[in-house]
Amino acid sequence: MSQKQSRRDFLGMAFGGVAAVGGVFALGAMKKSWDPLPSVQAAGFTTIDLSPIEPGQIRTIEWRKKPIFILCKDENMEPNDARDVVVNNRRYSVVIGLCTHLGCIPSWRESTKDFLCACHGGVFDASGVNTFGPPPRPLDIPPFSINGTKLVLGEEGPEYKKLISNAKG
Ligand code: FES
Repeated sequence: MSQKQSRRDFLGMAFGGVAAVGGVFALGAMKKSWDPLPSVQAAGFTTIDLSPIEPGQIRTIEWRKKPIFILCKDENMEPNDARDVVVNNRRYSVVIGLCTHLGCIPSWRESTKDFLCACHGGVFDASGVNTFGPPPRPLDIPPFSINGTKLVLGEEGPEYKKLISNAKG
């Protein structure tokens, strides 16, 4: 084997190693962002305790095969009375994490405190309102009810009905 050949082999192996490690990290990151909060699923309802989510934190849970983003707003994020879910004096954005343009999953940008949809550059603010690009409307709010500090997804409670009537009206 020539020296050139073995150098190529070495480089190939080195890059292969980097790619494999990168893959592991990517999987780890994906798992982290998808790790559900402790939640109880029963008859199409999913119950999530909101109290462990600190201001500024976001969690993604899966509900009926859809990603649901739950963001606990901090003092730097604009309140939005028409969309915020208020529990224990904290404001939460609870939205279906599917872009209203063509259905990609936007990601939360910590630096700008908004959601970016990488498919066509759509942007939604911390309340899920479309602020840039092709998305025609805000992120949808899933049906929910509130039980103490718990959010019950799949049940249309009075808080949900109020938000939906505000959104229409
Ligand atoms: S699918 Fe999100 S911007 Fe097109």
